[in-house]
Amino acid sequence: MIVDIVTIFPAMVEAALAEGVVGRARESGLVDIRVRDLRAFTDDRHRTVDDMPFGGGPGMVLKPEPLFRAVEAIAIERGAPSAVILTTPQGKRFTHAEALRFSRLDRVVVLCGRYEGVDERVAATLVTDEVSIGDYVLTGGELPALVVVDAAVRLVPGVVGDEASIEHDSFVRGLLDHPQYTRPAVCRGLPVPDVLLSGHHAEIERWRRGQRVRRTLERRPDLLAAADLSADERRELNEWIKEYGDEGH
Ligand code: 6GU
Repeated sequence: MIVDIVTIFPAMVEAALAEGVVGRARESGLVDIRVRDLRAFTDDRHRTVDDMPFGGGPGMVLKPEPLFRAVEAIAIERGAPSAVILTTPQGKRFTHAEALRFSRLDRVVVLCGRYEGVDERVAATLVTDEVSIGDYVLTGGELPALVVVDAAVRLVPGVVGDEASIEHDSFVRGLLDHPQYTRPAVCRGLPVPDVLLSGHHAEIERWRRGQRVRRTLERRPDLLAAADLSADERRELNEWIKEYGDEGH
């Protein structure tokens, strides 16, 4: 997977991508991520990337020409991109399914938007996917771009050591994850649930399944409608609903 990120804050974006799982994936060549400074694609002395909105109003808008040039230069260097993503609060909500779709593309360009906006001609002609990471407003599209790239890169085969841990991810099957504990067995007087120390694997799995269903019911009932539940999980869910009612369902 080749990723090019276009931003007015390249140092911030580069710093985040140098660490952890993504940093190692880059070092090992599983992904090839480059961060591009939008100002490098300006042609005036002041390297101007934004301007006032036509029609008036507050804030500044990212100028179209530097973004067009950036994508053209990247396409020449890397080959035509399979997707050009723009991070914007106006975008479609980013989900696990979208992360998986992006992770399967060969070449992706991510344009970091600004809160006030990007010239619509860029969105209309260059961009294939406008993406928002949630219903709140950030000052810029850099953090969302990092979110999108992180979520996609970890789904590239080989990036996350244990492939089984991806199968278990919250949202893969539409359930939140069960609680986790590690040593010591008692911390500040707080014990780990007995069942986890019992060594009874079937019992442990049953407890965890119950916890996943219960948590999802309590915290994210919206997920349950679309969840891909096993027969055991479905049974567990119906028991919880019978016991605690089904308000909101
Ligand atoms: Cl993609 N951009 C900005 N500026 N704010 C956001 C967002 C994106 N997603 C949620 N809030």
